[in-house]
Amino acid sequence: MDVNTIYRGDTLEVLPTWPAGCVDLIFTDPPYNIGYVYDKYHDDLPDDQYVAWCRDWMAECQRVLTDTGSFYIAIGDDFAAQLRMLGKQLGLHLRNWIIWYYTFGQNMKNKFCRSHTHILYFTKHPKECTFNDHLLRFPSARHTEYQDLRANPHGRLPNDVWDEFPRVCGTFKERDGFHGCQLPEAMLTRVIMASSNPGDVVLDPLLGTGTTAVVAKRLGRRYVGIDISPEYVSRARERLENVCDESEAEPVNGVWPELHREFLIQLYRETKVTLENLLPNEVALRVIATSLKARTGASYEMEDVREEFERLAEEKRFPKLPNDTRFAARNHVTSEGKRYKRQVFRQRNRKTRVSTVSESLFSAL
Ligand SMILES: C[S@@+](CC[C@H](N)C(=O)[O-])C[C@H]1O[C@@H](n2cnc3c(N)ncnc32)[C@H](O)[C@@H]1O
Repeated sequence: MDVNTIYRGDTLEVLPTWPAGCVDLIFTDPPYNIGYVYDKYHDDLPDDQYVAWCRDWMAECQRVLTDTGSFYIAIGDDFAAQLRMLGKQLGLHLRNWIIWYYTFGQNMKNKFCRSHTHILYFTKHPKECTFNDHLLRFPSARHTEYQDLRANPHGRLPNDVWDEFPRVCGTFKERDGFHGCQLPEAMLTRVIMASSNPGDVVLDPLLGTGTTAVVAKRLGRRYVGIDISPEYVSRARERLENVCDESEAEPVNGVWPELHREFLIQLYRETKVTLENLLPNEVALRVIATSLKARTGASYEMEDVREEFERLAEEKRFPKLPNDTRFAARNHVTSEGKRYKRQVFRQRNRKTRVSTVSESLFSAL
């Protein structure tokens, strides 16, 4: 097995040629057997065939994993229970059954809207495994709401329901556009930081757009990926050419490396407090600086964090937090508003000044 390589081929033909125990972390997001259209793979197998196929690649993954390795599988509702049981049969230990709750889920007409995916987090050994808790911490409510100095100054760990990673939608800058199942890099960053160390080997045996490999490379891990589609493989290789190892990047003349800025944005998402409330809160900012130091290895202090938050806000880099949409009356969504729009349109066509029309309309309402 060669590291820093993307293999094109059937994972069940490639993996058996590798020695046992050569991979430290596996993350994969297999086809969910829901009829999704892929380039080469047909995602509509009879249930028993699909489960047998999953058993085969999971068994190979278990074999190539080191004795202290971790194995994450993202999977939909239909087969999550079967894959959990397959893990048990293979002697894997379930450490967390994570729910990835995402925004921008699919709307439904006659049932509840689907807005989650399961992530089964297994390890080969029941206790011995890499878990870098210090790289995952963020301020707790005791810091953000009560400014309680007795709270852990390193912050708290994320829950097993992950709601900080929106789906990579069509309009997102991150989206590569050739594959509908691209996962968010920020989510892979959490997984790879939690369960591997720099230099470790990270495998995705069903690679798709290459997200796992891209994040592994940026974080200074060695990556290996496999996909059956020649097109996906060449696009993933291109994507990898455009990223580099940023694990030892340092700020230059006060300018932060992009990876460090992304960590800060992620800490903002995790803290879930608007900037307005966060910037004056020194207790929370201190925890963020501590966590950032751990994640980056650079020596950021609270004031650096505050200034970078302000710069990122000026660049409009912050995502909107849930419930943080300021109310602004938009008349066009009411029936009066529709009438208003129609009238303005007609008036515009008659070359009448719009402001006069709107003034008269508002005074009439
Ligand atoms: C859901 S996608 C992975 C998406 C990925 N997580 C990402 O962020 O882009 C699953 C991938 O498995 C690949 N695949 C399916 N069967 C395969 C097999 N037998 N060997 C290798 N790859 C396979 C498909 O081509 C597809 O790209």
